[in-house]
Amino acid sequence: MDKLISKLVLSLLLGSIAIGATAEERPRPAEESWMLFCEGCHRPDGEGPGAVMLQRRFGDERMAIKGNTTLAPEYIKQVVRNGFLEMAPLRPTDITDAELDLLIEFLRTK
Ligand code: HEC
Repeated sequence: MDKLISKLVLSLLLGSIAIGATAEERPRPAEESWMLFCEGCHRPDGEGPGAVMLQRRFGDERMAIKGNTTLAPEYIKQVVRNGFLEMAPLRPTDITDAELDLLIEFLRTK
């Protein structure tokens, strides 16, 4: 029985080491967060539900969130954390506050 338990503990340990070895870089670089969480809906070419809805609601100049320096960082944070109409919120387990700050900086570049 003891042997079984120690085998179990060992395999759990090895398992977590294996996971640790393949874990991605954290904080996740902004470009990766962008590709992982935003780009699919906010395609710069105007494709995706985010770009389509924003264009419909506010017009061409608010279609893109990437490179749009008129969006205040605090506003973007609010939208990401609380959601906005048809956009669902992201939790800190998806994207940490530090990663979100990096992402917002990245969004302000063209
Ligand atoms: C599942 C699709 C989807 C994803 C993923 C998504 N969004 Fe959105 N987003 C939308 C939609 C749709 C809207 C417009 C809301 C509406 O009009 O219903 C929106 C609106 C916004 C706005 C408001 C822009 C403005 O001009 O007021 C911001 C900022 C924004 N999203 C940022 C992000 C960021 C940053 C990410 C990634 C972390 C992201 N979104 C991921 C769908 C998405």
